[in-house]
Amino acid sequence: MKLLLTHIKELLQVRENCPAKLSGEEMKELPTLKNAWVFINHGVIEDYGTMDKMGPHQGFKTLDCSGKIVLPAWCDSHSHLVYAGNREQEFVDRINGLTYQEIAEKGGGIVNSAKKLQETSEEDLYHQSASRLEEVMRLGTGAIEIKSGYGLTTEAELKMLRVAKKLSEEYPITIKTTFLGAHAIPTEYKGNKDGYLDLLCNEMLPKIAEEKLAEYVDIFCEEGYFSVADMERILSEGKKHNLIPKVHVNQFNSIGGIAAAVKHNALSVDHLEVLTDEDLEALKNSNTMPVALPSCSYFLSIPYTPGRKMIDAGLPLALATDYNPGSTPSGNMNFVVATACIKMRLTPEEAINAATVNGAYAMGLSKTHGSITRGKKANLIITKPVPSYGYLPYAFGSNLIDSVIINGKEVK
Ligand code: NIG
Ligand code: FE
Repeated sequence: MKLLLTHIKELLQVRENCPAKLSGEEMKELPTLKNAWVFINHGVIEDYGTMDKMGPHQGFKTLDCSGKIVLPAWCDSHSHLVYAGNREQEFVDRINGLTYQEIAEKGGGIVNSAKKLQETSEEDLYHQSASRLEEVMRLGTGAIEIKSGYGLTTEAELKMLRVAKKLSEEYPITIKTTFLGAHAIPTEYKGNKDGYLDLLCNEMLPKIAEEKLAEYVDIFCEEGYFSVADMERILSEGKKHNLIPKVHVNQFNSIGGIAAAVKHNALSVDHLEVLTDEDLEALKNSNTMPVALPSCSYFLSIPYTPGRKMIDAGLPLALATDYNPGSTPSGNMNFVVATACIKMRLTPEEAINAATVNGAYAMGLSKTHGSITRGKKANLIITKPVPSYGYLPYAFGSNLIDSVIINGKEVK
């Protein structure tokens, strides 16, 4: 299948040699080509250039992109898209004054979703998740990471990961999977956290590794959930099964999880709504990508990750959705990019870099995703006619996407 996009008003994120990640000052630059064309061949970006230098193109399907902007599809490196049911009652409870933590303490929260998921068949779970996946693809996401963590039993955790695996087989979008068994302490193990961690290490991890159901391992390192020592245990155990760490840290409290994650060579540390100077120092000169989840801050009315301060300190930053039924019932990366500009004071260039190149890095996809580079996957967003790319986060409530191409094919 050959596809040629012509007369593109502006082609964003054009990088002949794309760096694996962008940090500090580098994030300010968004290389673009005006009045451009892109040639897609069998799912790959084969070539691009400006209209004044376009060679012959007989036999290609041509799409006129006059007035439109084309950019790489979003790389959403943090989601919990496979889940059962919703938690709109807890949303109302919070409106009425309860906090996220208070709701969790009275049996809501993650264990509430786990109960629903355990009672849902694998087939039903697949269909619920597939419709969310289709929605995010239409919103411009071309690669997504999906975590387990709403199962909390061996059987249910495996069910979640099998559903994610099946989605990756059925849909053109790239999916990376993460084992997050240590998401919360299940009701049956209340007061016996170590017993649950034993189950995780002795039963869940070996099975997941054996069936090759996950590439990454995650843990919710937070007061009332899992400690830094628990995190070190799980990450070390995961390493024995070749699982790479990507962890939830510093959502509500800074308890030393970032330094420990960096020490364990985590690919990413995610949330960071609360970030001390020591945490920031720990991230400097590391290979660990900090990931901000602004839709979660928006929905829970909690602080935003200090992205401005982090980039000014020379750090890289990625943006992701955190799509899940409790803290972020939205998988819309366009909203994430806009909210990062509006609430975290990222410039449009920084936010787009964070949601493409750095998002790809945070899920091990730097070589194939995140930029317009010859040989990378043809995952592209074509916008409606817009005055400039800055208009995309500016008009935050509008759907400005005309079409999305994933793996060289238009998403219907
Ligand atoms: O990333 N913080 C931990 N886990 C999820 C939310 C879980 C839930 O409330 O269901 C998150 O925000
Ligand atoms: Fe999360």
